[in-house]
Amino acid sequence: MSQPNEKLQPPAIDPARVLTAKRIKHTRVTEVMSELDTLIYTGSQDSILLVCGPTGAGKTTLSRHMVEAALEKGRSQMEANGGVIPAVYVEAPSSGENNFSWRLFYRRILSQLGDDLEAPKMLYGVDNETGRAIRPRNATGNSLAALRTAVERGLRERQVQFLVIDEAAHIIRQTRGNHRLEIQLDTLKSLANQCGTQMVLVGSYDLYLLVSLSAQLARRTHVLHFERYRDDRPEDVKAFGACVLAFERTLLNLWGGQLTQYTKPLLENTLGCVGTLSSVLIRAAKLAEAAGSWSVDSLERALLTEAQRKRILEEIIDGESAIGPSFTRVMPKIKRAPG
Ligand SMILES: Nc1ncnc2c1ncn2[C@@H]1O[C@H](COP(=O)(O)OP(=O)(O)OP(=O)(O)O)[C@@H](O)[C@H]1O
Ligand SMILES: [Mg+2]
Repeated sequence: MSQPNEKLQPPAIDPARVLTAKRIKHTRVTEVMSELDTLIYTGSQDSILLVCGPTGAGKTTLSRHMVEAALEKGRSQMEANGGVIPAVYVEAPSSGENNFSWRLFYRRILSQLGDDLEAPKMLYGVDNETGRAIRPRNATGNSLAALRTAVERGLRERQVQFLVIDEAAHIIRQTRGNHRLEIQLDTLKSLANQCGTQMVLVGSYDLYLLVSLSAQLARRTHVLHFERYRDDRPEDVKAFGACVLAFERTLLNLWGGQLTQYTKPLLENTLGCVGTLSSVLIRAAKLAEAAGSWSVDSLERALLTEAQRKRILEEIIDGESAIGPSFTRVMPKIKRAPG
């Protein structure tokens, strides 16, 4: 039992939890968000936008943040018209079957939109604490066509400006042949056109590789590259260093100001991916906690192994070299009329 004059101890903080909750608005996030913000608008012809980048760059985190920011921005509109949901996030299901399960996918969208489309609009709004949309539940429709119609209607009625589809490679990976591939993306495109909702497809480089298989698709999609921070670009090294500093400041007592001196090895080990950096630091914090105090040993043990790093790097190099040359947009020279 505590004595009356005994000082109350502050609640112990859980370093891993604090790091997990931390969100850094770093340079790449700002760049990609700003490009998406510019390209997402009512009446846009870009029905499909593709966000590609290495695993662990922070694509899922960015996508969720985009949707939360759109809901926050549309808060007054949502409060005035309870039916409006400006943005929706879904993860494309990996069904484990040969073909992509559109049924499961449509159901996921419907559950984000509020399945019972006849529900009183009063039920929709923004939760004051979380800033997220509050939606009623319950499923409707059984056949694939009924589901699709319900999705179309839902997106239109809720005036969804953009739908983020994370892990979008699942939609086309389970598809054989360019023709089928085009049909899959055509389905999304027509959904977008029917509802005036832009589709933001998010994934690792495999998504880009799949889409670039078809010239038709390549022509119609706008690609945004969520790149890693590269150690051969001074501005990237600086921006990555700012992320390490932000993580250091989040838990000053744990690292004791010792983290930023390891920026270079951290950049090398995590391949300049902020999500991977976060995972390494969370592990390091856990190991430090178990050991009783922080030491560089905890950090070393938390790093990716050389085999892991090599595997991820191979994927990055493949992706960057595929996206790289084609990503450079060249303005054709305009011939001037003589005289
Ligand atoms: N900007 C950020 N600030 C702090 N932590 C972040 C940030 N971005 C990502 N993280 C953390 O890194 C982890 C991995 O990020 P995320 O899942 O977004 O990466 P990803 O690019 O989607 O990876 P994958 O391609 O494997 O799906 C997340 O658990 C998240 O907490
Ligand atoms: Mg992800």
